[in-house]
Amino acid sequence: MRIVVTGGAGFIGSHFVRTVLEQGYPGMGGGRVTGDAVVVLDAFTYAGRIENLDPVRDDPRLRVERGDIRDPQRVTEVLTGADLVVHCAAETHVDRSITGAADFVTTNVVGTQVLLQAALDLGVGRFVHVSTDEVYGSIEDGSWAETEPLEPNSPYSAAKAGSDLLVRSYHRTHGLDTVITRCSNNYGPHQFPEKVVPLFVTRLLLGRTVPLYGDGGNVRDWLHVDDHCRGIALAAATGRPGEIYNIGGGTELSNRELTGRLLAAVGAGEEMIERVPDRKGHDRRYAVDWSKIRDELGYAPRVPFEEGLASTVAWYRENRDWWEALQR
Ligand SMILES: NC(=O)c1ccc[n+]([C@@H]2O[C@H](COP(=O)([O-])OP(=O)(O)OC[C@H]3O[C@@H](n4cnc5c(N)ncnc54)[C@H](O)[C@@H]3O)[C@@H](O)[C@H]2O)c1
Repeated sequence: MRIVVTGGAGFIGSHFVRTVLEQGYPGMGGGRVTGDAVVVLDAFTYAGRIENLDPVRDDPRLRVERGDIRDPQRVTEVLTGADLVVHCAAETHVDRSITGAADFVTTNVVGTQVLLQAALDLGVGRFVHVSTDEVYGSIEDGSWAETEPLEPNSPYSAAKAGSDLLVRSYHRTHGLDTVITRCSNNYGPHQFPEKVVPLFVTRLLLGRTVPLYGDGGNVRDWLHVDDHCRGIALAAATGRPGEIYNIGGGTELSNRELTGRLLAAVGAGEEMIERVPDRKGHDRRYAVDWSKIRDELGYAPRVPFEEGLASTVAWYRENRDWWEALQR
């Protein structure tokens, strides 16, 4: 079985690749992966780091291909012979999408269409599209099921929603075997220090203040990247064609509460919080109903938040070389 992981040098994609090669996922390649098994396709934007693949860099089963998912010829070359595509490549930072949305549209929408077309033309067995809970928009109470309409509010989530709809169309129109996952906010090692958890942790480790948006009341469900990747692997191995699976079950926290946990984990005080004006169009709360993946595929999150956060902070403490030059 050959798996192509787009964006495999990024935060989530590289976790998936390292885990596939180190442990294998049950039901994917019969447990341990063999042969010319995992191909990373990555454009190595600012967010793609070859160091993220260091632990498996010498594994003969891994091939790393530099390439842009917007380039049909390159995509066709790399997808030839693939049985499964796990599509993680995207522009991912909401703040960047507010100051400049063009790459979000070309990579997230056009790039996904280029991949879908190549997968169809080449007869790829399954296309797993890694999406986000942000496509549903903000919700005051309760949680979104997969059947809810998409009401994205940022250019990032709008471009992701566009890609989700294209995936749906390739399944409905052409019968391509697709599965979409929509996960809540992730944290863990190797996350680029522009996202709130690594941004705050690394700033605190440098003795700097942390910028808290608005009243700090925005709520997110925090899930360890390892739980997310296990959900993706389950959906890839046993999800039903054409279906969407929400992935969640992390810990719901306001940004204020999250900041408090991060300050405690690093050993810093409240005086390190700096209030800054709110993000434009800041969604108040995201929450997904993940009972479908639990009931159908047996998914359950495993990493308790306190443990996951402690190990994540320890990773940033011990890997300053990885992030120091990237800190804004
Ligand atoms: N981080 C989260 O909390 C979260 C939650 C739910 C879903 N997701 C989704 O998971 C996926 C991965 O997110 P992440 O946090 O690992 O992102 P990331 O920004 O860390 O990594 C993105 C990767 O995609 C690559 N890439 C970007 N543009 C490309 C292009 N045109 N061609 C080829 N490669 C390109 C980058 O080089 C990088 O390696 C995204 O699709 C994102 O929408 C993320």
